[in-house]
Amino acid sequence: MPQTVLVTGGAGFIGSHTCVDLLHSGHEVVVLDDHSNSAPEALERIAKIAGRPIAAAHVADVRDRRALDAVFTSHPIDAVIHFAAKKAVGESVQIPLAYYDINVGGTTALVAAMHDHGVHRLVFSSSCSIYGDATTVPLTEESPAAPKNPYAMSKWTCEQILADLCRHVPELRVLALRYFNPAGAHPSGLLGEDPHGVPNNIMPFLTQIAVGRRDELSVFGDDYPTADGTGVRDYLHVVDVAEGHRAALDHIDDGPGMRTFNLGTGRGASVLELVRTFEEVSGRSIPYHVTARRPGDVAELVADPAKAAAAWGWSARRDLAAMCRDAWNFQQQNPSGYAP
Ligand code: NAD
Ligand code: WQD
Repeated sequence: MPQTVLVTGGAGFIGSHTCVDLLHSGHEVVVLDDHSNSAPEALERIAKIAGRPIAAAHVADVRDRRALDAVFTSHPIDAVIHFAAKKAVGESVQIPLAYYDINVGGTTALVAAMHDHGVHRLVFSSSCSIYGDATTVPLTEESPAAPKNPYAMSKWTCEQILADLCRHVPELRVLALRYFNPAGAHPSGLLGEDPHGVPNNIMPFLTQIAVGRRDELSVFGDDYPTADGTGVRDYLHVVDVAEGHRAALDHIDDGPGMRTFNLGTGRGASVLELVRTFEEVSGRSIPYHVTARRPGDVAELVADPAKAAAAWGWSARRDLAAMCRDAWNFQQQNPSGYAP
């Protein structure tokens, strides 16, 4: 059934790809975004790819109750996907309070507004970072949470608040999706990852080196207990992540309360494997040198994605080469990102 979906943070990296998928699937999309880490241009590009525009765009802070009330009053919202948050692990150590304020305060303001307006379906963006320094991989949803920084703690706190709310508000349905390492871009080259400042994540760093905006990659440690000594992550294509949200929405009424799902491929790749794949796909060489481990990094994070496969029939379909190809295509078509 077509639904009207409020997407907070809908102009961001994962949000914009999800909006495209929702529009393709016949849903109506309302976006709320303050553009603190995105460009309004992304919303134009969503319309270009989908062949029709989103229903409305509200430029507002997700903590702003008045703005939220205006959104819920103006549109018959059936469900909410909540992406809007700050997401840089390193920054969260510098300004932890901003992470609690925006990520936790934003979530409680949103859920309060949903409650007051009779909206009871929420898909929440969580993160593999809540697993912390995992001792055994692959990680299932039952693996213990052990957040190691304020960003991860903010996401884990939101999960706990939402789980507790579900125990007290029987009509509330929440799906918390724990993404592993989203990467890549829309194959059209119109949407992609355009971080402000120096990229925190490795894939945009690689594409910026390849396009000439940065000189070389620092490989953060080659003495981890992994096959080649560099960190292993479960990279998954952002279009697969977007499809995971549509699958979640399709199944949100399957059961009551809060449920958590990993979104990952189940396959890990090392930093050097990612660099090699990127070089093969792009035809560019990536100069790198090995430096010390990045504080807070862990050796290996890989999902067990079986739960989402069994419950929704969702699994990631695109491989590491597709992620590299599409990220590189976006960077080539948009050397300065969304900036004119
Ligand atoms: P992003 O920064 O590209 O998108 C977030 C969007 O939210 C941006 O458009 C930003 O302008 C908006 N926003 C931020 N604060 C806001 C506020 N107070 N009010 C309104 N809008 C606000 O990030 P992303 O990579 O698309 O991540 C989306 C979600 O997924 C986040 O919740 C993030 O924590 C989570 N997540 C991301 C990753 C990843 O590696 N990208 C991994 C796991 C989880
Ligand atoms: C990947 C690998 C680095 C940059 C973070 C968050 C996680 C989730 C995804 C939000 C690691 C190595 C990186 C560089 C490098 N986001 N690396 N040189 O740290 O796995 O996960 O983003 O929820 O919560 O923690 O992603 O892309 O930064 O790093 O060698 O310049 O690349 O050490 O092994 P990470 P990443």
